[in-house]
Amino acid sequence: MAFPTETVYGLGANAEDPAAVARVFQVKGRPPSHPLIVHICGAEHLGDWVEDVPAAARLLAERFWPGPLTLVLRRGRRVSLEATGGLETVAVRVPDHPVALALLSAFGGGVAAPSANRFGSVSPTTADHVRAELGDAVDFVLDGGSCEVGVESTIVDATGDTPSVLRPGGVTREDLEAVLGRPLAVHSTSRVRVPGQHPSHYAPRARVVLVEPEKVVAEAELAQELGHQVGVFLPPSFAGAQVKAHAVVAVPDSMAAYARGLYGFLRELDQRGCDLIVASLPVEEGLGLAIANRLRRAAGPRPSE
Ligand code: TXA
Ligand code: MG
Repeated sequence: MAFPTETVYGLGANAEDPAAVARVFQVKGRPPSHPLIVHICGAEHLGDWVEDVPAAARLLAERFWPGPLTLVLRRGRRVSLEATGGLETVAVRVPDHPVALALLSAFGGGVAAPSANRFGSVSPTTADHVRAELGDAVDFVLDGGSCEVGVESTIVDATGDTPSVLRPGGVTREDLEAVLGRPLAVHSTSRVRVPGQHPSHYAPRARVVLVEPEKVVAEAELAQELGHQVGVFLPPSFAGAQVKAHAVVAVPDSMAAYARGLYGFLRELDQRGCDLIVASLPVEEGLGLAIANRLRRAAGPRPSE
């Protein structure tokens, strides 16, 4: 069953049912060692799913849930090892979406859910995207419209006293730091193993090339002349420019709008038959950090390379 959240659509299964969780891995084509996020309906239930809630984790949960923040904590016994890919930690979040919250409250348990896309491809931000990705393999899709945030949740390793960011996402590093009152390490200082962090992920069919913002138009036109069907992520500084390319997406000025549209833009350029997408990275602050992370990985080497 697929359901909407404020970030992206998820493909859900009872977190306590190993067979249901196994089916999610099968439908997604995801290696079983890649852990899923357990979705719950409120911060007050966190203690049911994890062994220990350090003070910093409690603070973050109270401040940001429901919302696009995932906390990695020590696994409670209720969570099936299938859901955590065999890890002794578990990722938990409370999504900020009325349909997701209604589903979770009615169900009463935890729903283990990855993004509802095939392994390695672009996450779905509408019910139509889910159907295009998973077709008949998914029993039904709860349609909650377009996702407000558009990029996945921020994943924070909160197992110890000094939380660190494992994946930038919908809650900004700056917001986390303001609440914690200290700087946060991003990824590198974490002791936690992060499976599923392959160089290529969030990838459309078209190859993605990243260049400096001021070179986007020239690079795109050159590649088009060389015979590619080029899709362009046109930076706001070029707004309105005529580009000799196959398809052009105007990148919104606001980072919130960019995040909301990002995966839809990648899908659109695929659908329009582009084989190459030329884009640039936004400034890596606020939501720009998550957008740049996804673009880098969309541009990463593909598994066959
Ligand atoms: O916004 C989101 O987080 C969406 C919606 C559906 O909630 N979900 C999502 O799930 O992005 P998924 O499976 O596509 O990505 C979850 C990532 C995994 O790739 C893995 O890196 C990390 O969460 N993760 C899960 N459990 C973990 C753990 N115990 N330790 C470290 N990382 C973990
Ligand atoms: Mg995913």
